[in-house]
This record gives sequence, structure tokens and C-alpha cells, in this order.
Amino acid sequence: MLQIIKSFREYVEALKENHEVVTVKKEVDWNLEMSAIARRAYDLPAPAPLFKNIKGCTPGFDVLGAPVGFSPNKNHPCIRIALSLGLPIDTPATKLVEEWSRLPDVAPIPPHLVETGACKEHKLFGDDIDLTKLPIPFIHYGDGGRYINTYGIFIAKTPDGSWVNWAISRAMLDGPRTIAGVVIPTQDFGKIFSEWKEIGKEMPFALCLGVDPAIAMIAGYPLPSRVNECDQIGGWYGEGVDVVKCETNDLLVPASSEIVIEGFASLDTVVTEGPMGEYGGYVWCGNHKTAPLFKVTAMTHRTNPIMPICVAGVPTEENHTNWGISIAASIQNVLRNQGFPIKKCFIPFESAAHWFVVSVDRNRKTEDDEQLALDIGKAVFASKGGSYIPKVFVVDDDINPSDLNQVVWALATRHHPAKRVAIENQYIFPLVAYLSQEEKKAAVSTRVIYNCLTPFHMWPDELKPAEASFRGYPEELQKHVIANWEEYGF
Ligand SMILES: Cc1cc2nc3c(=O)[nH]c(=O)nc-3n(C[C@H](O)[C@H](O)[C@H](O)COP(=O)(O)O)c2cc1C
Repeated sequence: MLQIIKSFREYVEALKENHEVVTVKKEVDWNLEMSAIARRAYDLPAPAPLFKNIKGCTPGFDVLGAPVGFSPNKNHPCIRIALSLGLPIDTPATKLVEEWSRLPDVAPIPPHLVETGACKEHKLFGDDIDLTKLPIPFIHYGDGGRYINTYGIFIAKTPDGSWVNWAISRAMLDGPRTIAGVVIPTQDFGKIFSEWKEIGKEMPFALCLGVDPAIAMIAGYPLPSRVNECDQIGGWYGEGVDVVKCETNDLLVPASSEIVIEGFASLDTVVTEGPMGEYGGYVWCGNHKTAPLFKVTAMTHRTNPIMPICVAGVPTEENHTNWGISIAASIQNVLRNQGFPIKKCFIPFESAAHWFVVSVDRNRKTEDDEQLALDIGKAVFASKGGSYIPKVFVVDDDINPSDLNQVVWALATRHHPAKRVAIENQYIFPLVAYLSQEEKKAAVSTRVIYNCLTPFHMWPDELKPAEASFRGYPEELQKHVIANWEEYGF
């Protein structure tokens, strides 16, 4: 039974109840200091900082840093992901992926249009809007500007209204009423933008900062194109999401949003954007690009709104938790539906969303493990979620894909270098960190499959190797040792 949290501020309350928030009353600077604090909270890990007093910004606007970072609670390191999905706080990492992998199969439930909602408590139009007064962080040394969106969702729909997309996509502050919105053509957001370009009309957009935690999760989920995240999360909830109409365009936004910024994306005006620290762990200093100008026509917000910020970079931040779990889940769904004998899937947080690890049933019938690993790897690469992944590791199911010690052990002792399959001239996601400038530009590179499967399942029982570790001892003896542990003097 899911325990869905239906607004961002209820999520903040749930985090507080679980000792996952530190309220920062001391004045902090939006210029680097706020992000440096959030960054240290990821790295330690420490509770998420809730900033109440941000220098020079409109009073009453709070910021939550590291909303889905790792927990300092060793028993529940993934508690913020579990709470976001409405799952028990002690759900193991691979089980989070397993549960979330059911998302594409839930029957969609359309949203519930309501007259008004909390996000309409305050309404601002025209010159009354001054985004520069919001507590928007200048995140990293080397960034190109202040990033207004790092964990909010952009909403856009096709001109014929048949497809509405909710996605997390970064956006940089440009001026009091303008934003540089990053629109990657291969992402659904970019596909919708190109439909507006074709008919020569500016694209209406809404940017919702501070949404239900599961809405932020689905906005990072690579669902098939033309699937409406809004309906699919309704299916996950078991009831439609309450939505309200924007003030100046006809988009529908989650009624409980903390802040809604609405407007139109220009087709011909571009502004300088970037760089911003990326999920691979680097700020590509000096790498300025251009992005379409998003013109803001209205801003509505709750009283005392809370803005989330993700400080992207070295693991573990929301690109590795939210996005990593969602990509792994989407691929698990594809592999299972294609009938592969898979057990668990995971994108190790430490790999910065560059590795996908999948475990395979050791009692599989197939004798040709090389072909099986190749087929699985190719299916991963062909999937939408797998389009982001350059390296696949196929392991036996005695290896837990979320346990990096075990994954490294399998790679070191079970992978024969001759069995590494490098597939050249593949599509590659341009943000993969190690690419050359030419590869980034062409979005073409080599992808690789590491076959770590053992042939042991084909060996006679008497010759099968036993694992030389504690769990390799007979179960009875393991239980005896554990039961007597303190008596031994430990
Ligand atoms: C914290 C975070 C930041 C993200 N930033 C971006 C971004 O700036 N641009 C982008 O295209 N995708 C970004 N993503 C990934 C997309 O949200 C994700 O791939 C989503 O599935 C894309 O939507 P689509 O499936 O509708 O194409 C981010 C995800 C997360 C969790």
C-alpha cells in the first residue's frame, strides 16, 4: 500500500519527522554559499538544508537544498527516494527500482481540474514580477549564471493538445521576467518545442517549482514519448492529480505547486546559457551555449513558498537518485517485458548515471552466455532509458547490483577482457562525461557491454565453486555464528 505525499511542503514535513532536515536560520548568500552548504550535505551525507533567510531576496521565500540526497541514517540511506515514491522508508535500493519499474504498466488516470488551489494564493503579472528577487542560487564556481530551475518541472503540450509533457530540465535566470530554457531536441520537451516551431507559434510553458515528490520523480522518468506523465502519476496515486489552469496560457499545473512561473518560449530569440555543473561531476568552464528565451507573463505562488534546489555534480545528488532510479526502473520494465531472465537492475549512484548493472537468473536455461549478455546489452541501448547509458554490466544473481563491492568483485574476477563487447558508432547522450568535443557534437560514440556471467550453472554440482566468504558457509553455521556474536566477545 503506497503512502503518497501529495505536496512539496508535506514532503518537507515528512523529511522533518524523519530527521532529514536542518532548518538554517542564519543568513546565507544565494551566491555560492547556499549551494556549497547543500553540496556538503550531499557529500557527508547530512540532512537536507532548509534555508529560511537568504540575503537580498524576497522575505518568506524558503529553499530546500538536496531534496532527494542520501540520508545520514545508515539504516535507511535511500529514505528520501522511498518517501518520494510513497514506499516504506526501509525499502532496499533495488526494490525501489523494482517497484518503480511497474510505473509504465499502471492504468493512467487523467487529472482532476479544480477551480483554484494553493498555488494561486498570490498572483503577480507584468512589472510586478521580478525573478531576480527570488532566492535563485548561483550554484558552482564557473557556472554561467543563476539557475532558477534545477528540481522543478517544465510543462509543455503539443499544439493539438494531444500530448502534455512534464520534465525536469534546467533553466537559467536571464532577467526580471526572462529565462534561458534548455531544450534538448532529443528530449520530449525538445520534440514538443519543435512542433511549435513548425507552426511558427511561441510555445506556452509553465515551470512549477516545488511539486509533489512523486511528480518530481516521474518528471525524471524516461516514459515513452506521447505518454502523459500527469495521467501516469494519477495511475500510480490511484486517483487523478488536482490541477488548475494557468493565468496567461491554457496549461494545467499541479494545484499544490509552491511556485508557478508561466509564459511563452520564443522561437527566434536565444540567449546565452551555461555552463552549469553536470551530473557527471564537472563544470565545463567557459562552455557557454545559447538557449531559447522564455518570456514570463505571470507568476503565482503559495504563501511562504519553498523552492527545491539540486546542486548537480559528483555523486550523490538528485540526478543519481531521482534520474538514476527512474532510468534503471524504465529499463527493467523493458527487459522484463522482452522476456529476458533478469532479476535486479541498478545504476550505481557512484557511477554518476554512466553504468547500468543487471543481474541474471543463475538457473537460466541458456548455454550461450555471451549471446545472452550481448542481447541484454543491445536491448538496454535500444530502450529510451538506456539511451543515456554508455556502459552495461551483466552479472549473475548472486551479485546485488546496488552493492558496489560486489559489482567490482564481479567485474574484477568474472569478466574476461576478451568478452568485452564494444559497439561502435552508436547514438550517445552528449552529456556523457568522457566524450571528446567531436563526439558530443555528433552524439555518436562507442558503447560497451561487460559480460560478468559465470559458466558455473553448467558445471557438475561437485565442481561448482563455493563463494569464499561468510555467506559461503552453510546457512545453519551462519545463523549459529550470528546468534553467538556477542558471546565471542565482539
Ligand atoms: C535533477 C535532474 C536534472 C535534470 N536536468 C535535465 C536537463 O537540464 N535537461 C534535460 O534534458 N534533462 C534533464 N533531466 C532528465 C530529464 O528530466 C529526464 O530525462 C526526463 O525523462 C526527460 O523527459 P522525457 O522523458 O520527457 O524526454 C534531469 C533530471 C533530474 C532528476
